[in-house]
Amino acid sequence: MQIHTTIESLRAARAEAGRVALVPTMGNLHEGHIALMRQAGTRADCVIASIFVNRLQFGPSEDFDKYPRTLESDCEKLEAAGVRHLFAPDEKVMYPQVQHYHVDPAPAQVSILDGEFRPGHFRGVATVVLKLLNIVQPDVALFGKKDYQQLMVLSNMVRELALPVEVVPGETVRADDGLALSSRNGYLTNEQRAEAPALHRLLTRISAAVRSGDHDFLKLETEAMSELAARGWKPDYVAIRHRADLQPPVHADDPLVVLAAARLGVTRLIDNLEI
Ligand code: PAJ
Repeated sequence: MQIHTTIESLRAARAEAGRVALVPTMGNLHEGHIALMRQAGTRADCVIASIFVNRLQFGPSEDFDKYPRTLESDCEKLEAAGVRHLFAPDEKVMYPQVQHYHVDPAPAQVSILDGEFRPGHFRGVATVVLKLLNIVQPDVALFGKKDYQQLMVLSNMVRELALPVEVVPGETVRADDGLALSSRNGYLTNEQRAEAPALHRLLTRISAAVRSGDHDFLKLETEAMSELAARGWKPDYVAIRHRADLQPPVHADDPLVVLAAARLGVTRLIDNLEI
């Protein structure tokens, strides 16, 4: 695998690479990322991964400084997954001066769910992803359903700005006990790690209840929030939403997804399940 730290070097490699699939990441790679790399390999001649911890998408009190940076072991995993090129720029390459131009996603998409609790987050995500797409010019870009709202915001950006790239979603990869893999799971204490799968169990229960005909969504959401709080979590939201736009469902037979975000100690976990 070739590691590129400059835009020029990456672009020269890209020019020779044929059909390219890009998988953007912030590193500290786990099996969820690697599954996206493998899926990318089935969609293109050449997989390009990127690793960049994007300051623009972190709030002032969030974990930018302590976000795990593990480039050496990440490279071994990418090699093993058949990734041909890694773009791993430092901040001076991605943001040589203050970034004045930003992508502002539609307010209706970012004033809800994670956008409500992380103001500016999706603006930072959309801005860096547009920049990565412009640098790499891939044919396909893959994003995980683990970050469901991110996937929606980026799909809409690509469509509304007519970007010449196909967005492909990847299924969420979980630990055996159901916990969605995440770089932030490493922050959990042993005790919190044992509690963490309760979030996925709760989503599974809500999904089963809705499928068996319980359409009192507000009651299901409120009860779930109380249960998390009673178990010692600090929930931001549990929400049953329309899959396509993440707005509250209008018809009971809409395709639905249940999403949740909650803190265990200092660690904020998110998860979702299509119903
Ligand atoms: P990061 O959290 O590193 O995730 C990179 C990609 O891996 C995202 O598309 C994310 O949805 C996916 N992913 C994470 N955990 C997953 C899991 N358990 N199963 C399947 N896919 C999973 O998301 C970001 O980085 C950043 O916001 C980024 C898009 C790179 C922009 O900076």
